[in-house]
Amino acid sequence: MNIPPRITVIGTGYLGATQAVCMAHLGYEVVAVDVDPAKVAALASGKLPFFEPALDTLLVETLATGRLRFTTDFDLAAEFGDVHFICVGTPQSSGSDAADLRYVDAAFGELARRVTRKALLVGKSTVPVGTADRLAERIVELSPAGAELELAWNPEFLREGFAVEDTLRPDRLVFGVRSAWAEQMLRAAYSPLLAAGTPVVVADPATAELVKVAANSFLATKISFINAMAEVCEAAGADVSLLAKALSYDDRIGGRFLKPGLGFGGGCLPKDIRAFRARAEELGVSAAVAFLHEVDQINLRRRSRTVDLVRELAGRSLQGVRVAALGAAFKPDSDDVRDAPALDVARLLYLEGASVVVYDPQANANAHRAYPDLDYADTLGEAVDGADVVVLLTEWAEFVTADPEDMGVLVAQRRIVDGRGALDVARYRAAGWEYRALGRPAEVGAARP
Ligand code: UDX
Repeated sequence: MNIPPRITVIGTGYLGATQAVCMAHLGYEVVAVDVDPAKVAALASGKLPFFEPALDTLLVETLATGRLRFTTDFDLAAEFGDVHFICVGTPQSSGSDAADLRYVDAAFGELARRVTRKALLVGKSTVPVGTADRLAERIVELSPAGAELELAWNPEFLREGFAVEDTLRPDRLVFGVRSAWAEQMLRAAYSPLLAAGTPVVVADPATAELVKVAANSFLATKISFINAMAEVCEAAGADVSLLAKALSYDDRIGGRFLKPGLGFGGGCLPKDIRAFRARAEELGVSAAVAFLHEVDQINLRRRSRTVDLVRELAGRSLQGVRVAALGAAFKPDSDDVRDAPALDVARLLYLEGASVVVYDPQANANAHRAYPDLDYADTLGEAVDGADVVVLLTEWAEFVTADPEDMGVLVAQRRIVDGRGALDVARYRAAGWEYRALGRPAEVGAARP
C-alpha cells in the first residue's frame, strides 16, 4: 500500500488514547472509538481523563490538525479504517488469576460484524498466548460475506509516565503476523518509526503475544530478586541499597529495575504475571513459570514488612498512632492506584488501628475513590502535621526533595520509614530523625562510634 493506511483505535484508555494521539502526530488520519461517551467527549475537547506528562499537550496539538477524531460510533470506525488497533483493557478476572478477555472479545466482535472490506485487525492488548488464534477463527465466523479480515498481534511496551516517549521512540516493534500482506500493512502503519531505525521482530501471533508477558515477567522477577535480597539483608544486618549498587556495575546485570523497596504495582506487572501462570497451567506447563508465584509473594511481603517497620518505630501497637502516608500512586508521575503498594500499605496501617493521613500529588482523587475510609490531605505539610510516624510510599520528587528540618517542625515525632530507599539518610539523621528503610540495618546513617 503506497498511500498511508487509515487508522482506527478501539478503546481510548491509557494505551488507546496514547496510540491514537501518537499516530495522528506521526501524520496518519485517525478515528478513535470508545463505548464510554463521557471519555470520548473529554478527549474530543482536548482533556485527558488521566494524568500523563506530555500526552495532554500532544492531544491538543493533534486535535488542531484535524487528523484525529474521537467517537462512540463503531460503524464509522469500521468503515474508516484500513488498520484497526484494538487497545482495550485485559484486567484480572474477579475470583481468579486469569485475564478477563470480555473487552477484547467484544471489540473484535464489534468490528468483525461491521467491516465489509479488506482490513487488518491488530491486537495491542496484553493477552494470554493463543488468544489471537482463537479470535482469528471467530472473526471469520462473524464477518459478513466479502469482508477479508486478517488478524495480527502487535504488543505495546509503554510505561506510564513515559507513554509518548515509549510510543514515538520504542525500543522495538513486534509484529505477530500470518501473511506478508499483514506485515506490509503494519510496516506502512509504522513507517515513520521504521525510517527512524526502530528494530522490528516479525514473528507469528503466538510469539508476539508471549513477548509481552515474558518481558513483564522478567521485569517483575528482577524487582523481586532484589527485594528477596532485601529480606536476606534484613536478617543478616546487611544493606541492600549498597548490594544493588555493587551488582549494577556488572553490565550483564545492569541497574535498571533493580531498585529495592516496596515493590511493583500498577495495571500491568501484577496482573500479567498472574495471568501468565493461569495460562501456563492450561497449557500443561505450570512448572515452567511456578517461580512467578514466588515473585508475587516476595512483592506482597514487602508491604507487611513496611507496616512492621512503622510499628517498630512507633514502639507500640499502631492503635491510635498518627501516620502520614506519603504517596498513593503505584509509582511517581502517575495518578494510577491500581494494585498500588503505597495504597495497600496505607490500608494495612489503617486496619491495624493507625490514624492514617494520605497525601499524593496526583493520585488523591483516585485513591479516595478506592479507599474512602482513609483520610486525605491536600498538601505535604497537612499530611505530616502532628504525625507520630511518616512513611514514604511513592518516591515523588516533592517528597524526596522535602527539607527534613521543615518537616520536622510539623511532626509530633521525627520518625520516618523510607519504603522506597529514596531519601538522603544523612540529612534526616542530621535533622534528628529516627530513620528506617526496607532492607537496610536500623543504624544505617547513624554516626559511627
Ligand atoms: C510496565 C512495563 O515497564 C511496561 O513495559 C509495560 O508495557 C507495562 O508495565 P508500568 O506499569 O508503567 O510499565 O510501570 P514501570 O515503570 O515498569 O514500574 C512498575 C512498578 O515497578 C512500579 O510500581 C515501580 O515502583 C516498581 N519498580 C520499578 C520497582 O519497585 N523497582 C524498580 O527497580 C523498578
